[in-house]
Amino acid sequence: MVIDRSRYFTRSLLKWYRQYGRALPWRETSDPYRIWLSEIMLQQTQVTTVLSYYHRFLSTFPAIQDLAAAPLDKVMKRWAGLGYYARARHLHRAAKVIVEKFDGRMPKSFEEIISLPGIGRSTAGAILTIAFGQRWPILDGNVRRVLCRYFLIDKDPKRKEVEAWLWDHSERLLPKRGSDIYLQGIMDLGATICTPKRPQCTICPVNKGCVAYGEGVQEVLPVKGAQKEVPHFNHVAGVVLDDERGVVIRRRPLKGLLGGLWEFPGGRVDSAIEKEQHENSLKTLLGTEMEFQIEVTHQWMQIRHAFTHFRMTLHVFICRKKKEKIDRSTKYQWIPIEKLGDYAFSSAHQKIVTKLSEEGHRPHLPQEGFEPGV
Ligand code: ADE
Repeated sequence: MVIDRSRYFTRSLLKWYRQYGRALPWRETSDPYRIWLSEIMLQQTQVTTVLSYYHRFLSTFPAIQDLAAAPLDKVMKRWAGLGYYARARHLHRAAKVIVEKFDGRMPKSFEEIISLPGIGRSTAGAILTIAFGQRWPILDGNVRRVLCRYFLIDKDPKRKEVEAWLWDHSERLLPKRGSDIYLQGIMDLGATICTPKRPQCTICPVNKGCVAYGEGVQEVLPVKGAQKEVPHFNHVAGVVLDDERGVVIRRRPLKGLLGGLWEFPGGRVDSAIEKEQHENSLKTLLGTEMEFQIEVTHQWMQIRHAFTHFRMTLHVFICRKKKEKIDRSTKYQWIPIEKLGDYAFSSAHQKIVTKLSEEGHRPHLPQEGFEPGV
């Protein structure tokens, strides 16, 4: 029986982290810029995915000044594939603020740091604690899960009063000294042992104090709030080719989903529209949005992709230009296929780039019995 559950948690976690903590590149530096970058990349992405992006990003932008001075396009190019692109736009904007307002140094006060784009309460706490040795709680998905299980919270943790309780306990668990180590420890515990599915409770360093484990209910916690059904949408995209000029791409508006990324033109089609009509929808979209008349040669691939709030099937068509109106308002560009690699595309559209780079100006017709690519 554990007498002081909170003290036991903190002590056991610190001891465990010293022995089993993961060696990660952002743990081998005290540079606040690197720590900030890692926290932003890790907000919605797992460590294994982040690692290569982290290194590539830093080799292109080794200091805040490099990031602040870079064009957004270059930043997006380095971020492409990591998802949640608002993170990259915010990071870039925040770097400019740091250079202009804070002399190029990451601010050390909570109010200043949380005023930067893309930094919320938990990320601010993580940066201040890890980079500057301060003592702030965090409450990300991992910590929320660990605490809900450890204290057996069987209410929706996103509810306001439950969230306030969790923040409060996250703070109470912090050690007097060594909060940086402690935070890394609780993150590792959530990522490697107290996992969403099949937590490894038998080897958990805090299992003797975990109420959910004691009652055998760890697998059903944290409880999920009412789940919204994730809608599915059909999208179309045209790969408009020209032997001399290459292929047409356009840039998405900075605000909104996948803002600032490049794409093959098209868009969402009305869900009432039959599959056979997708070709016409594409023609209409390009005609109205870009004043661009096309001829569809054939359907080329289908790509499925899941976003946070919806799932999408992207129907991709190979097209030729019929008529275009070029003036100063033109919202697209012709790019040689070999140059596509210089532009940042979302993951779904990057699949088109990859296939196009393999097949060139004369993309293959789908084979008989063709199973659309995913
Ligand atoms: N998730 C968020 N921050 C992290 C960190 N510093 N180490 C490992 N996982 C994390």
